[in-house]
Amino acid sequence: MRKNIVAGNWKMNTTVPEGVQLAKDVCMAVAQTPGIKCQVILGVPFTHLTAVNQVIDKNYVMLAAENCADHDKGAYTGEVSAAMVASTGADFVILGHSERRGYYNETIDMLKTKVDLALEAGLKVIFCCGESLDERKAGTHFEVIKNEIVGSLFHLSADQMANVVIAYEPIWAIGTGETATSDQAQEIHAFIRSLLCEKYGQQVADDTTILYGGSCKPGNAPELFAKSDIDGGLIGGASLKCADFMGIVTAF
Ligand code: PGA
Repeated sequence: MRKNIVAGNWKMNTTVPEGVQLAKDVCMAVAQTPGIKCQVILGVPFTHLTAVNQVIDKNYVMLAAENCADHDKGAYTGEVSAAMVASTGADFVILGHSERRGYYNETIDMLKTKVDLALEAGLKVIFCCGESLDERKAGTHFEVIKNEIVGSLFHLSADQMANVVIAYEPIWAIGTGETATSDQAQEIHAFIRSLLCEKYGQQVADDTTILYGGSCKPGNAPELFAKSDIDGGLIGGASLKCADFMGIVTAF
């Protein structure tokens, strides 16, 4: 059966010393809080991976990168390959975040390649999808999400899907303070699970963790996580303060 997960996505925040301190604080808080019902993951900038890996205890906290390259090696100045990410000790990589798609023109095809390279390197993937406000207003949100998932993930085998977590992040809710209602989120999560069921069967659908992301906070996490198809959260802003993040980690 699928795991609950709460993953932080620090984005482009914290210096290395600040990040190391935050990771230490979160790891200690998780270790000292009995009865936590989810896997905690910290998604951190490339520059922080090695240092953070040295200060966390994997019994409590796992490590994610926020991106990797769409090539395996070579003359791509400034890029970081999936194998490089894996060599830091990272367990996961976040792929397809709407900020990457929007600001850095990441396409469905490019993300398909990144997913393959990440899995080949032994990383697990947190794959983000979600619609813009215009797409929701136009009623095309189901189609948008389906295209993102089918186009970048559905070439994978059922065995490979065991290493993929899906994060539904409506773009209009990211960093805006406006959260999808728990019913809106549940509707999309159930839709995503139905896509998985059609393609891979009930077992894979039941075993795949589907996270919600977008202004998730300690105040709204319990209601979101109580929904049957919402298995946790991908947390941006609220992952930058240990107390806020822990308020979400303990929301189950
Ligand atoms: P937010 O970001 O929690 O700050 O809205 C979520 C995300 O982008 O993963």
